[in-house]
Amino acid sequence: MDVSKLMFREDLMKDQRILVTGGGTGLGREMAESFLKLGATVYICGRRQNKLDETAADLMGAHGGKVVAHACDIRDADAIHAMVDEIWADGGALTGVVNNAAGNFISRTEDLSVNGFNAIADIVMRGTFYVTLDIGKRLIAEGKKASFLSILTTWVWSGSAFVVPSAMSKTAINAMTQSLATEWGRYGLRFNAIAPGLFPTKGMSARLSPGGSGDNSKNELNPMGRPGEMHELANLATFLMGPGAEYVNGQTIAIDGAGYQANGGTFYSQLQGLGDAEWDMMRQMIKGTNEKDKADRGKA
Ligand code: HXC
Repeated sequence: MDVSKLMFREDLMKDQRILVTGGGTGLGREMAESFLKLGATVYICGRRQNKLDETAADLMGAHGGKVVAHACDIRDADAIHAMVDEIWADGGALTGVVNNAAGNFISRTEDLSVNGFNAIADIVMRGTFYVTLDIGKRLIAEGKKASFLSILTTWVWSGSAFVVPSAMSKTAINAMTQSLATEWGRYGLRFNAIAPGLFPTKGMSARLSPGGSGDNSKNELNPMGRPGEMHELANLATFLMGPGAEYVNGQTIAIDGAGYQANGGTFYSQLQGLGDAEWDMMRQMIKGTNEKDKADRGKA
């Protein structure tokens, strides 16, 4: 059964125009699909044109409507500006932005280089801000309302060992969410965030549990005994982006089965006992994934 249909009217997002960064894969794709199904025009961006084109074709094949794919690395403010020019030329202002694109890998902090830190901070903290700034300026100039939603983690409240650049960068975006909710509220721009617990995606599993069993059906550490299901996250995102939730502003809402309350939702207890050999092995596996993705990005 299509659970989203139980919760939302079919044309709920008609006339909405939403950009989902990192919308070609994982959580971004799920949210893009949910908005499309409910009538929105959806723009997706990411670094791999082939993956984005495939996603756009799949989603339109399944649901009709319009999904437009833009290859754009959000670390590059000029590339964002050019992409947003094209989106505006394609039908005017956006009504919503989902800051979903992210990068992360587990590592002991003492093993990180400055480049390793920047690889994550440039995407998560700087890139998310560049997207928000470019689009926010246009909306303010045109007097248009919109909803911004950022995908964070509960580490914005607790920090997390072994993912320090991600925890730092997402905490910065939590501060952006709260700050702009107040500063730009008067323009009709609202800012919220979702802090998901474990929602297994390929990109995440390869970098946060390299060599894991691949069995994502259980999550013994979570009070609910399972990871999140994609439609649950997409439903929360749809609620926050849809009409009727306009007074929700400046909030970061966890969707993690109370994992944060039960065990902090961090990597500390899982990883603090690992030794040099295990970290070396995981680093090699993560780098293998990164190289493969890089090769993919070279393809048209
Ligand atoms: C130490 C590492 C490393 C590792 C990369 N680096 N992997 N250092 N341990 N395992 C270092 C490299 O050595 C290099 O530094 C620097 O990082 C840049 O590496 P590149 O491979 O050139 O980076 P790049 O191609 O730009 O890739 C960015 C990336 C990659 C962030 C490293 O992981 C990526 O593209 N990720 C996108 C998808 C993703 O991460 N999805 C998961 C999101 S999960 P040197 O010094 O050698 O030059 C998430 C939160 C989940 O966000 C929350 C769950 C609760």
